[in-house]
Amino acid sequence: MNIVARIANRLGRRWGIRPFSWAAPCSLEEVGGDHLNLFDRIHDLNYWGSEESVSGGGSTHGRTAEYAKLLSRLIEQRQIRSMFDAPCGDLNWIGNVIDATGVSYSGGDVSERAIDIALQRRPGADVRLFDIRHDAFPDADIWHCRDCLFHLSFDDGLAALRNFANSKIDWALITTNTARWMRNIDIATGGWRVLDLERAPFNLPSPELRLKDYPEKTEFPRYVALWRREAIAAALK
Ligand SMILES: C[S@@+](CC[C@H](N)C(=O)[O-])C[C@H]1O[C@@H](n2cnc3c(N)ncnc32)[C@H](O)[C@@H]1O
Repeated sequence: MNIVARIANRLGRRWGIRPFSWAAPCSLEEVGGDHLNLFDRIHDLNYWGSEESVSGGGSTHGRTAEYAKLLSRLIEQRQIRSMFDAPCGDLNWIGNVIDATGVSYSGGDVSERAIDIALQRRPGADVRLFDIRHDAFPDADIWHCRDCLFHLSFDDGLAALRNFANSKIDWALITTNTARWMRNIDIATGGWRVLDLERAPFNLPSPELRLKDYPEKTEFPRYVALWRREAIAAALK
């Protein structure tokens, strides 16, 4: 992203405007039309630029410390026994939540690289290749989908929500950006922009609650919000 776009995005933050997106490092066509290859390429390039996690700066221990506490509290308060975490990324930080709560954990990611690293971090973890757009969700009390849909095109994001709506999981925690003036823009999958799931083309209802997932002074408002599966299914009809 060039310097002008960065400045415009920074200036717009206080009004909820972030007009410029990040492009993917390559198009889907260049990697044979395959999501697995696209996100493997992103991981091979360390395109999200973190030394600690191939999932990027948003998945470091420092950046997730507050959110991990909120998530652990929610798991305990709502007596959530099992969680399906997709995408699970490279499991850099979620282990703290698993260890703190004892929740029965399974995870999935479309990238083989991410799964390989995840298994190096937590040998024997129940993680697998999984595409949220069309693979059948396993049974669990909750689907955790942090920091993913804002990397997907509208069509892919909608496919993921429709796929979840056909699952047996009652609850979903999904990343959403919230601001007074936001308008969602479409991107090619693999890029990034802010995305408000309560606005078109998703139009989800207000969530049951939002877990704050951003440092206030430096980032655009970002939450991981809780919806019932039925509410998502009804909104997508
Ligand atoms: C920014 S990382 C977030 C990972 C993790 N949720 C976290 O909070 O650390 C985004 C992840 O989404 C994965 N991903 C992208 N499209 C996907 C899809 N259709 N199904 C499953 N995972 C996908 C990527 O491979 C990548 O690991």
